[in-house]
Amino acid sequence: MPRQLRKAVIPAAGLGTRFLPATKAVPKEMMPLVDKPAIQYVVEEAAAAGITDVLIVTGRSKDAIEDHFDRSPELEEALLAVGKDAEAAQVKAIHDLVQIHYVRQGAPRGLGHAVGMARAHVGDEPFVVMLPDDLMHPNAGILTGMIEAHNRNQSAVLALKRVAGREISMYGVAAAKALSDTVVEVSDLVEKPSPEDAPSDLGVMGRYILTPGIFDAIERTETGRGGEIQLTDAIKALIGEETVLGYIIGSGRFDTGNKLDFLIASVTFALERDDLGPELLEFLRGIVSGR
Ligand code: UTP
Repeated sequence: MPRQLRKAVIPAAGLGTRFLPATKAVPKEMMPLVDKPAIQYVVEEAAAAGITDVLIVTGRSKDAIEDHFDRSPELEEALLAVGKDAEAAQVKAIHDLVQIHYVRQGAPRGLGHAVGMARAHVGDEPFVVMLPDDLMHPNAGILTGMIEAHNRNQSAVLALKRVAGREISMYGVAAAKALSDTVVEVSDLVEKPSPEDAPSDLGVMGRYILTPGIFDAIERTETGRGGEIQLTDAIKALIGEETVLGYIIGSGRFDTGNKLDFLIASVTFALERDDLGPELLEFLRGIVSGR
């Protein structure tokens, strides 16, 4: 019987320079899509996939994240006092999603370094890494599919997506052999290659299932591209030692660290809401038809 994946690590200590000036004082993970901060969608995704324990790697000026997942008895009481019971329950539910822990990275020395901060908390068991600026649609079942692939032989699993043209240079790219329609075995990774040097069109997205072997690999990883300790380099080292699978995802992934994708995600989520969707659709139709 495979051991149930229990823990997820959310690295949230980056500077968010692509979203300045908004991210000067507000953590980018707290930017709302409709009325919910990006990181809450990610924690909800973890909980829906059966994760019960989340470690968020934070840094200075990220206190709003801790406040958001904390209890707010005064707010709950104030809402109850004016009969806003549903709102009070909604506020309380945020705290009850999963058990949340925090560790500070100290300085943003790269994603690999951020994941390395989780070593003492994760211990000797496989775990999930979820990048909070990659938002997965709740109906896409991406993390659940990855966990199923992991459960078959306990190996590491990377989320991969087919990326067209020059955009491939924004991602770690996998050389891989197909095992089924959605699962591949990864034989190499290249971080942000030029389109000519990319080994495939399979870019690594912000969901990973990693084995505890990654921590030794991170410690052995030297500072790489951009003066940072890259997670891709550490996973590359892991490929030599154990099986690393890729799980190919389709639609339902938004890069909310990117302004255009952030807007697309916001509109997508708003259109799906009964209280906002119909009027927003009407407004958008008006724009498109030049009314
Ligand atoms: P990014 O490089 O996309 O995030 O890192 P960033 O640095 O915050 O954003 P930009 O590119 O400057 O706009 C991917 C993820 O890894 C985390 C980030 O918070 C983000 O969720 N990260 C990155 C860390 O936690 N620590 C780091 O040292 C670097």
